[in-house]
Amino acid sequence: MTALIRPTLLPMQQAAADWQVLPAFIPVAEMGVLAVNSFLLKGPEPVLVDTGLAALGDEVLDALAAEIDLEDLRWIWLSHTDADHIGNLPRILECAPNARVVTNFLGAGKMNVLGHDMTRVRVLEAGEALHLPDRALHPIRPPYYDAPETQGFVDSATRVLFAADAFGALLPEPVDTVDAVEDATLRDGLVAWSTIDAPWLQIADRDRLGATLGAVARLAPLAILSGHLPHAGHDPGKLVREVHAAWVAGPAHGIDPLAIETVTAALN
Ligand SMILES: [Fe+2]
Ligand SMILES: [Fe+2]
Repeated sequence: MTALIRPTLLPMQQAAADWQVLPAFIPVAEMGVLAVNSFLLKGPEPVLVDTGLAALGDEVLDALAAEIDLEDLRWIWLSHTDADHIGNLPRILECAPNARVVTNFLGAGKMNVLGHDMTRVRVLEAGEALHLPDRALHPIRPPYYDAPETQGFVDSATRVLFAADAFGALLPEPVDTVDAVEDATLRDGLVAWSTIDAPWLQIADRDRLGATLGAVARLAPLAILSGHLPHAGHDPGKLVREVHAAWVAGPAHGIDPLAIETVTAALN
């Protein structure tokens, strides 16, 4: 595939069990590409997870409208309020008059600051699940994240786990599925993205992080859906093992030029 020079939307495809993915990719200077995914659950109360890139607004809306009548959309699960997740929220809310945004206390606060329509927000209390007629989406905090309001979920009906920014990977080029990526390339991409997106991993307690990853492994999700990884329904255990190897069992990572210890040492 030729080098990507602008954000690009790929066709909607099946992700895992009942979930579809609307995949996009953005070029990342000198580092390849990053997936930016939204997910769609059809059913008695359709759910859209995140809203894609504003730069692709027309295409995102067309792709959604080809799958469901937007009047039927009931919920927009907002993982967090970063621009790559909230990009088309106002437009989708306009076209989907019966949809409400699902977020938590801090997410709602940030939406308010950003000027979003708060009459369309459903705030989940701590520990509260989103109950649908055929399943519940149980909120979880992913093992790592870049915004404190970040809210993934586990789908009670399918054991699909949505991990927001976690388990994303920088890749050389757009692909439909992680199966098409060499193991070493995936490992490097996971480490690169997590280093950029969650730099605090370098000072995280490894035992605590290991325990969190262990909980994901024990949950044995049918699939891990990441906002920043191509469809990864094949082997979620492999993703967990790679992250564990990189941040829990692996060697210490390189010098962080922004770490306060580094700056202090340079100034003294
Ligand atoms: Fe983010
Ligand atoms: Fe993101």
